Amino acid sequence: MADQTVWLVAGQKGGVGKSTISYGLGYYLAKLDQGKVIICDIDFGQWTCDLWKSLRGDKPLGFDIIKCNTLEDIGKAAVRTGARHVIIDGAPHASKQTLELAKSADRIIIPTGPGIAALSPNVGLANNMLEEGISRNHIAFVIMQAGTPADAKSAYETVKEHDFLCVPASLNFSTAYGQSADRGLSVLETPFVGLRKQAKLVFGALTK
Ligand SMILES: Nc1ncnc2c1ncn2[C@@H]1O[C@H](COP(=O)(O)OP(=O)(O)OP(=O)(O)O)[C@@H](O)[C@H]1O
Ligand SMILES: [Mg+2]
Repeated sequence: MADQTVWLVAGQKGGVGKSTISYGLGYYLAKLDQGKVIICDIDFGQWTCDLWKSLRGDKPLGFDIIKCNTLEDIGKAAVRTGARHVIIDGAPHASKQTLELAKSADRIIIPTGPGIAALSPNVGLANNMLEEGISRNHIAFVIMQAGTPADAKSAYETVKEHDFLCVPASLNFSTAYGQSADRGLSVLETPFVGLRKQAKLVFGALTK
């Protein structure tokens, strides 16, 4: 659809922050006010984004969350809503479906932990995407949950060594991010200004 951007947030490792990035991206894009934003949640059984929304109470979110099981569900939601931005929050582990989704996405975000155990399979996933004919420029890594800025920097350099784009800001580990999520708040809404600023840098870089 013309003027519709499809974002896929995917990864080969569970629990690194795919839903955190999807939810924050939805919040960030909704604030930009370019048009309707939806998250297609394909995280069957967990429905993390939907759960976070329910934890917010009456606080407005600015975007919709639609539970989807199949590619067809996502396609239908994209057409039905006519959304300007469609964000797909990927399942815990990448699969054939992930590669299919990647082919129809305009932008792919791979959140990854900073250690080799997360970086290696995620770089492998990105290479699988290249083999499917997806352009390298469509894929951006974001480093999540690093314990220190030095860990985040080292992970950033590893991604660059593999010739993939990595945003120059990371969402380093902070219990406040987790606590905010437990209240249904995005990482852009934590009570701490420094953490909010950091999250803004991340989403600013991802949407550049
Ligand atoms: N930078 C961070 N610091 C602290 N906690 C974080 C950070 N990023 C994410 N979390 C927390 O880590 C947990 C897992 O994050 P999230 O659900 O986004 O991962 P996921 O990749 O979507 O997981 P799954 O693979 O199960 O779908 C959540 O409780 C989230 O709030
Ligand atoms: Mg998730």
